[in-house]
Amino acid sequence: MKEKPDAQQPSTLDECRRCDLWRNATQPVGGQGARRAKLMLVGEQPGDQEDLAGKPFVGPAGDLLDAALEAAGIDRRQVYITNAVKHFKWEPRGKRRMHKTPAQKEVAACHYWLEAELESVGPDVIVALGATALKSVLQSGSVTLKDYMGQPVERGGRWIVATYHPAYALRVPSSEARAEARQAIIDALLEAKRLLS
Ligand code: URA
Repeated sequence: MKEKPDAQQPSTLDECRRCDLWRNATQPVGGQGARRAKLMLVGEQPGDQEDLAGKPFVGPAGDLLDAALEAAGIDRRQVYITNAVKHFKWEPRGKRRMHKTPAQKEVAACHYWLEAELESVGPDVIVALGATALKSVLQSGSVTLKDYMGQPVERGGRWIVATYHPAYALRVPSSEARAEARQAIIDALLEAKRLLS
């Protein structure tokens, strides 16, 4: 007799029904990059363009991330880039699909996939891009970015470096704050590089 698939332990992202976000997304977006990368970058969730392309960080936030990686002297092809949540959560505004922050229960449900990626890629350093990523990486819904910014922590034999999400560096109103946020992302990448050396 064929075994019924376990809804809590799907074997592929396409089959995942651990939360309801799959219902309104085009497709799940898994991680991309070097299969055995020493450095893993974790974002929040795919945005509009990532949802359509099926690849992480290919939209405006991805452009900013690419520029930060370049400024830090890190080759994107050498790292593994993924998100805490693999489906785009959005709400309609006119014809646009507006990003909606995932709920903690969705982040917790999707940790299943991040755990699998951590196991197979085995990075020594993780850069958490934004609070959602940090919550997933540290498996705590109550941690804040402020508490970890500029202070890498070691967990389970790997370093975790926290910084702003690239989208924050694009949308924060003042140009001064945008420049500071960009620099903080570059500094976090440089710190990650230092921890790897
Ligand atoms: N924002 C994210 O957190 N991840 C992406 O892949 C794109 C935008």
